[in-house]
Amino acid sequence: MSDFKNLVENNKEQYLDELFELLRIPSVSADPKYKADVLRAAEVVKAGLIKAGADNVKLCPTPGFPIVYGEKIVDASLPTVLVYGHYDVQPPDPLDLWTTPAFEPVIRNGSIYARGSADDKGQFFMHVKAFELMMQSGELPCNIKFMIEGEEEVGSSNLEPFLEANKSMLKADCVLISDTSMIANDVPSITTGLRGLSYLEVEVTGPNRDLHSGVYGGGVANPINVLCEMIASLKDAEKKIIIPGFYNDVIELTQAEREMLNSAPFNEEEYKHELKVGDVMGEKGYSTLERTSTRPTLDVNGIWGGYTGEGAKTVLPSKAYAKISMRLVPNQSPDKITRLFEDHFRSIAPASVKVVVKPHHGGQPAVTPVDSDEYRAAAMAMKHTFGKDPIPARGGGSIPIVAAFEQILGLKSVLMGFGLDTDDIHSPNEHYGIFNFLKGIETIPYFYKYYAELKKGQ
Ligand code: BES
Ligand code: MN
Ligand code: MN
Repeated sequence: MSDFKNLVENNKEQYLDELFELLRIPSVSADPKYKADVLRAAEVVKAGLIKAGADNVKLCPTPGFPIVYGEKIVDASLPTVLVYGHYDVQPPDPLDLWTTPAFEPVIRNGSIYARGSADDKGQFFMHVKAFELMMQSGELPCNIKFMIEGEEEVGSSNLEPFLEANKSMLKADCVLISDTSMIANDVPSITTGLRGLSYLEVEVTGPNRDLHSGVYGGGVANPINVLCEMIASLKDAEKKIIIPGFYNDVIELTQAEREMLNSAPFNEEEYKHELKVGDVMGEKGYSTLERTSTRPTLDVNGIWGGYTGEGAKTVLPSKAYAKISMRLVPNQSPDKITRLFEDHFRSIAPASVKVVVKPHHGGQPAVTPVDSDEYRAAAMAMKHTFGKDPIPARGGGSIPIVAAFEQILGLKSVLMGFGLDTDDIHSPNEHYGIFNFLKGIETIPYFYKYYAELKKGQ
């Protein structure tokens, strides 16, 4: 094998320049005002794959944003790896909290600051560059298919039908994804599970119009007060979610699995210090690592209503709203949980208000095996470039399509991400370490080398 570390080092300025071009495009899938930019990002990804040496590169249309596809079939007898990533990003808001603008990438303290730098442009782009390097050095030991989508951050709802309709084009032996984090730069890890998601919006209406809070205050329901009471009642004193049936399908981890999970390096004092919180908080009986990976949650993501402008306005509002998400764990179904929430939320509403529940997108949870060739190949690759065996660790976020890869294509995924939890993804000042970006490009070729070897030995 070539000295990939050296090759990456020699090309790093070029790689960064090309990544910056992609990061300058505000490909926000959630907001229609960025539509042209999302489409432009797809074109740039397509051009990048062509430049790297992929064949049959195309934009596959969907009812939403296109899926960028490209492949290199070296030899039909070699294993085929399907690389998945997403070129869409989260909205950059709140803009005023960015030190430098979200779509003007800069390097500070060894990190690339820009929306999408870690999630997921910087990460899928490592695969494009690693592929390019393997093509240049004539060492591509597997067939590769790239599928980079533009709607991950809005639930990937058009991707499932795409998988259904393109089973033969997407035929592969496994899926390789870099869209998660590791424990630390000196503690490599591979994500072995993702949470699912049920996301909805609630609207609570009190009186038919805004009222003077002195004239009417005390006599009719204030929908904001009622909404707060309803939300507060969804958990008990031990922070268990009390929606009937909520935990019914949760598979409890065995004692051995819990011990394994809790043995991962984690310093709660540092965690609190880094987040500037006086204490952690969560479901009784579980550690912070468990609460953030293998336990379901319920959180308000936004809440509004009434007067929120400057100064004081005395008003008893007519309406109150909240956006609520529930992170789900394996075996919980997003549709079922959404239904349970809706039924319960209506049932606890007092007669003084009306409640409307609007479901948004969901996502299925997933677990990925540690006894597969793809996991072993990823672990061997990381061991090679980090000098340490990676630790298997469950992740708390969601990648909705991972469950569908298994259900529709029959493919297992390996989640070899190179980000860190502190990269501030979805938050102002998202960043991705240059170390992580380059380490990823260096590690990926070894995945293919070991995967081909493992498959050949069978
Ligand atoms: N890359 C993240 C998911 C992630 C991040 C998993 C870090 C594990 C560790 C992904 O882009 C994401 O943000 N997903 C959304 C899914 C949703 C929009 C359906 C999420 O988790 O909120
Ligand atoms: Mn992502
Ligand atoms: Mn994301």
